Amino acid sequence: MFRVHGTKIICNGAALYKCRFHCAGKNNSIVVSEGAILRNCKFKIKGNNNVIEIGDSVSIKDGEFWIEEDGNRIEVGARSSLCGKIHLACTEGTCIKIGESCLFSSEIVIRTGDSHSVLNLEGHRINHAQDVNIDNHVWVGQRVCITKGTHISSNSVVGTGAVCTKSIEESNVVIAGVPAQIVKRNVTWCNERI
Ligand SMILES: CC(C)(COP(=O)(O)OP(=O)(O)OC[C@H]1O[C@@H](n2cnc3c(N)ncnc32)[C@H](O)[C@@H]1OP(=O)(O)O)[C@@H](O)C(=O)NCCC(=O)NCCS
Repeated sequence: MFRVHGTKIICNGAALYKCRFHCAGKNNSIVVSEGAILRNCKFKIKGNNNVIEIGDSVSIKDGEFWIEEDGNRIEVGARSSLCGKIHLACTEGTCIKIGESCLFSSEIVIRTGDSHSVLNLEGHRINHAQDVNIDNHVWVGQRVCITKGTHISSNSVVGTGAVCTKSIEESNVVIAGVPAQIVKRNVTWCNERI
């Protein structure tokens, strides 16, 4: 365990290569479980009471974890692989939850907020941040963008270039396009080319 400016970093039994931590605030924690391997990852936390949890045997390359404000949470479930450049941004006390045994390709963006405000004509903000949930065993293709309030159900595939803006409550589907929609049902996927 070590600390970087009020952030507790616990990584017993995990391997972290060339990872960087830019942290400011109080009571933040990053927990990386046993067998996880993180290469060239960047953690940026600005706020209090935020948590990043990386599960057992997760592998992440070129990941950027970006947290602003208080009470946010980013979770990556056991045995998931985030293979290339990925940006995970959590703001306004929200959560990004990636399930177990997921596979993420490269150049992926997942964000719970929009960084700036959209207002109605009375001057009230209408684009508050919302949680993103990706269930177990989901494969996300290259150059996918997943925006606030999205839920992707288990055993599904997200096609390359998709922009996911809505929840897909059905499992075992292929979703694709802009905005992403179901293009195939009753499928699953596996890592090996069989
Ligand atoms: C998602 C994917 C795996 C689906 O493959 P598949 O099951 O063979 O699907 P199909 O090619 O039969 O496509 C089904 C329909 O979805 C459409 N579609 C497929 N992928 C699409 C995409 N990325 N964007 C928009 N539409 C797409 C097809 O045009 C087809 O439409 P139709 O029914 O009107 O003809 C594949 O399209 C894909 O995106 N592969 C890239 C994965 C990747 O990024 N790999 C990197 C290594 S991890």
